[in-house]
Amino acid sequence: MSSSLVSTAVTVIGLGPMGRALAGAFVAAGVPITVWNRTPGRDRELVERGAIGAASAAEAVAASPQTVVCLVNYDATDAVLRQDTVTAALKGRTLVNLTADTPDRARDTGRWADEHGIRYLDGAVMTPTPTIGTRQAVLLFSGGQELYGEHRQVLDALGGSHTHLGEDVGRAAAYDIALLDIFWTSMTGYVHALALARAEGVSPRELAPFAQGIGAILPAIFQQTADDIENGSYSGEGNPLTSAVSTMTHVVHAAESHGIDTGVMRAAEGLARRTVALGHGTDGFSRIAEVLARR
Ligand SMILES: NC(=O)c1ccc[n+]([C@@H]2O[C@H](COP(=O)([O-])OP(=O)(O)OC[C@H]3O[C@@H](n4cnc5c(N)ncnc54)[C@H](OP(=O)(O)O)[C@@H]3O)[C@@H](O)[C@H]2O)c1
Repeated sequence: MSSSLVSTAVTVIGLGPMGRALAGAFVAAGVPITVWNRTPGRDRELVERGAIGAASAAEAVAASPQTVVCLVNYDATDAVLRQDTVTAALKGRTLVNLTADTPDRARDTGRWADEHGIRYLDGAVMTPTPTIGTRQAVLLFSGGQELYGEHRQVLDALGGSHTHLGEDVGRAAAYDIALLDIFWTSMTGYVHALALARAEGVSPRELAPFAQGIGAILPAIFQQTADDIENGSYSGEGNPLTSAVSTMTHVVHAAESHGIDTGVMRAAEGLARRTVALGHGTDGFSRIAEVLARR
């Protein structure tokens, strides 16, 4: 093996759907990889494509100057990485953690890595598995700028755009949880809407194109809301909160009439009502963010 290949070799720990996609992208890019997963057998296809399957996590880490780890959460990464043999093998090497969890867990892992002489980058994958290795992939990274620069080229094998968000190791996770907040509340709203529409005799396929229309108006609203909050303007000119509360109540009443759970919409309506009660009824929806941020 040539020295240039040795310097780009990567170990991937965790072969769930995302770990397999990451490892597959490295293989496709010609990066020599070693893989390991807690449950054996998940490396079969990767090994057929040229990856080396390691017998233990410590052996996997020792095989490459950089290890990418992608497990279900940081309890899982702690269980694997904080074993003495694995921690010892990581010393002096780079660990890129693409596992999702909270910013505090990322910072705690950063401190642990520092204490053990491990070069640490944290990251978040923002797009689903089929995007990995394609132009659609979006990855976020945080931690040392120089360290990121050193590994950027090999991380390019994962495709798409990736962004270094700063030296604070928790910053990628901070973006991740905020973006997941949008995703999961939106998806909960969508499945609730599908149930409500169905109760009214509108099938999911009939609603879907119109639901996509709602999705299409959101980018401009997201930007306007962010600008409103940054400027402290909270403009309710086109759609004051009192009007928004009224339409939210219609959704609650219609869902209740069909015996459909209204918990999520009631929570949203409650926030808007609280904001109106604080004297902000003529403000726009963005005012709720300011009220939520009050301590
Ligand atoms: N899938 C996606 O589209 C997607 C998109 C963006 C971000 N992510 C993030 O990527 C990470 C991995 O996701 P995933 O899709 O691969 O599936 P996942 O179900 O979140 O994670 C599965 C992986 O975690 C391992 N694992 C779980 N508990 C463990 C433990 N106690 N000790 C050691 N390993 C453990 C599994 O090993 P076993 O095989 O042994 O169970 C497997 O390798 C998650 O943080 C997820 O939020 C996923």
